[in-house]
Amino acid sequence: LHSSQDRGDGSVKYILSGDGAGVLFIIDENTGDIHATKGLDREEKSYYLLRAQAVDKITGRPLEPESEFIIKIHDINDNEPTFTKEMYTANVPEMSDIGTFVLQVTATDADDPAYGNSAKIVYSILQGQPYFSVEPETGIIRTALPDMNRETKDQYLVVIQAKDMAGQLGGLSGTTTVNITLTDVNDNPPQFTQSMYQVSTLESAPIGFSLGRIKATDADIGENAEVTYNIIDGDGMEMFDIITDKDTQEGIIHVKKPLDFESKRLYSLKVEAMNTKLEPRFLHVAPFKDIATIRVTVEDVDEPPTFNKPYYTIEVDEDAKEGTIVGTITAQDPDASKNPVKYSLDRHTDLDWIFNVHSENGSIFTLKSLDRETSPWHNISIIATEINNSKQSNQIPVYIKVLDINDHAPEFVIFMETFVCDNAIPGQLIQTISAVDKDEPPGGHRFFFEMAPEATRNPNFTIRDNKDNTAGILTRRKGYYQSRVNTYLLPIIVSDNDYPVQSSTSTLTIQVCTCDSAGNLQSCNTEVMSLPAGLSTGALFAILFCIVIFLTVILILFASSKRQRKEEPLTFSKDDVRDNIVTYNDEGGGEADTKAFDIGTLRNPKAIDNKLRRDIIPEAILSVQQTVPLWQSTDVRAFIIQRLHENDEDPTAPPYDSLATYAYEGNDSMVESLSSLESISKDESQDYDFLCDWGPQFKKLADMYGGVDSDRDS
Ligand SMILES: *[C@@H]1O[C@H](CO)[C@@H](O)[C@H](O)[C@H]1NC(C)=O
Ligand SMILES: *[C@@H]1O[C@H](CO)[C@@H](O)[C@H](O)[C@H]1NC(C)=O
Ligand SMILES: *[C@@H]1O[C@H](CO)[C@@H](O)[C@H](O)[C@H]1NC(C)=O
Repeated sequence: LHSSQDRGDGSVKYILSGDGAGVLFIIDENTGDIHATKGLDREEKSYYLLRAQAVDKITGRPLEPESEFIIKIHDINDNEPTFTKEMYTANVPEMSDIGTFVLQVTATDADDPAYGNSAKIVYSILQGQPYFSVEPETGIIRTALPDMNRETKDQYLVVIQAKDMAGQLGGLSGTTTVNITLTDVNDNPPQFTQSMYQVSTLESAPIGFSLGRIKATDADIGENAEVTYNIIDGDGMEMFDIITDKDTQEGIIHVKKPLDFESKRLYSLKVEAMNTKLEPRFLHVAPFKDIATIRVTVEDVDEPPTFNKPYYTIEVDEDAKEGTIVGTITAQDPDASKNPVKYSLDRHTDLDWIFNVHSENGSIFTLKSLDRETSPWHNISIIATEINNSKQSNQIPVYIKVLDINDHAPEFVIFMETFVCDNAIPGQLIQTISAVDKDEPPGGHRFFFEMAPEATRNPNFTIRDNKDNTAGILTRRKGYYQSRVNTYLLPIIVSDNDYPVQSSTSTLTIQVCTCDSAGNLQSCNTEVMSLPAGLSTGALFAILFCIVIFLTVILILFASSKRQRKEEPLTFSKDDVRDNIVTYNDEGGGEADTKAFDIGTLRNPKAIDNKLRRDIIPEAILSVQQTVPLWQSTDVRAFIIQRLHENDEDPTAPPYDSLATYAYEGNDSMVESLSSLESISKDESQDYDFLCDWGPQFKKLADMYGGVDSDRDS
């Protein structure tokens, strides 16, 4: 700096202030020369604002006003270009076209771009040629070679230099490294290592059994190397299959159908390996698949006999005779040697020994007669064994169905006893009958009901076939009186419609019973009921009671007859007789029972003539019934008839029922004396009594003791 006031006499002094004054810049106070004290860096501070003044050395007064000035720092190229990253990585697909963009690298230069070329950068490639190139101005890296193959080299280290001063000599430079990886493209087809493979397997190999693995290699990686395998041709296409193992990219050959050495021993397969993901760009270059041939050899295994069906169903009529052949099982040895086969029956399946099999020809025959109704099925098992190797055997189920033959007659379902009400009207249904049959005709049962021939013209009952395997028994008239007929017997025939027709006859017992007007059963005549069949316990007790009484009477009479034997006269005093009479109550049929004993006749003896009495048998009936010979040509008979006659004719005999005493001792009788029941009631009504209706037992006893009238029981 120099002031115009300075005349060079040394009276002026220069002072500096502002940015960096005294530190970076100092001023010579006498001459005004400004010096820099240290090196300056434009990149740090490119200009400084300073003020200077000239003052009088002695007075210290400013000689002129302070002036301001700027010190500008000039740039020199002291900075080299630097890249934003020390190391770059980039990928580019292999086989890319020439000039494919890979990456742009950038370098910066701290120098002043506005001044000179210190900051003008040019890029160049130091390493990586001839594969890659870099654009000098932009730093864009591109591929420089076509057909760069990842399979040959997949990693490239490219070094890029950036140089300032526009790349001129003397410029500063910086470098960076770019790591370029080629990515995979499916440019390689899979390839079998062999064109022909050989595998072998036993014919017994089960379905799904794996025979072996084949592999087609592929130079690509990842999904570009994925391969699927297919059998595309060959005579073994039906028998084998190939699947792909995704982990190893291998093809596994396995058995699809049972093999048989005897029918085919050698198969060939054409197998194709193919990439799953194809790159359209390369399809024209090569077919992305490979084909290999596999030869499969089937090896023989000694096999057990085989049957020509999985099971047998045989039908046989149930009337088949013993020894009948019901069917034949055939088995053969599948091996080439064709060993002969013998047959046997698995006895566990036929414990009852109903069947057997001819061991040489497999014919199954019966050992016993069959009965479908017992077992409709016989499920047996036949074993076929190779004769010279008993280990080679096989079993087969045989289902033998026994076919029905109509060998059972239908049977009535119900217990064949019913009743008819005495007030039944004609055409009334009294019983529905049905039948069952053990046979099982295919079309179901059809039963026919009819009267047995001897009863077809039955005036009392008729049968109506309901056509649904039941039939109704209907009345044909009215007025079924217990007194006339207690029980009707109706023989009925039921037959089926099968061949041969089977039929059975059953007799329906129809009891006549009294009913109320609504048809409800009131009472039946228990007398005709067989004891075990229909008697109530009450009735049984009544009968038992009667028997006990009867025995008591016998005993008493027996004792009294012993006593009386000493008296010759056949009559007794009233008192004696009373001792021998046991009385009990007989309950009559009520007012409606007009046929029961009319008590009025006891009071008026003349009324006898009006009615036919139940308790005395008229002579006419007696004489008819006496034609039944009981004591043919014996003295006893004659004796009794004579005495009976006498008694009947005797006007002095008691008026009502009577029991005559026959003091007759039989011929060689075991007992000492015999006597009939006695009742000598002379004339008084109080002497009259009923006895039990003893029934047949009494008849027998009475006969033993010399007999009374054999038909009437009192
Ligand atoms: C099998 O052999 C038995 C006895 O040798 C013979 O009775 C039967 O008829 C034969 N079966 C066949 C189907 O030839
Ligand atoms: C026998 O086999 C037949 C048909 O498979 C079957 O219906 C029947 O129930 C079997 N019988 C026995 C006793 O196993
Ligand atoms: C029909 O009933 C009468 C009496 O009611 C009897 O005498 C006759 O024997 C009966 N006929 C047959 C076939 O049962």
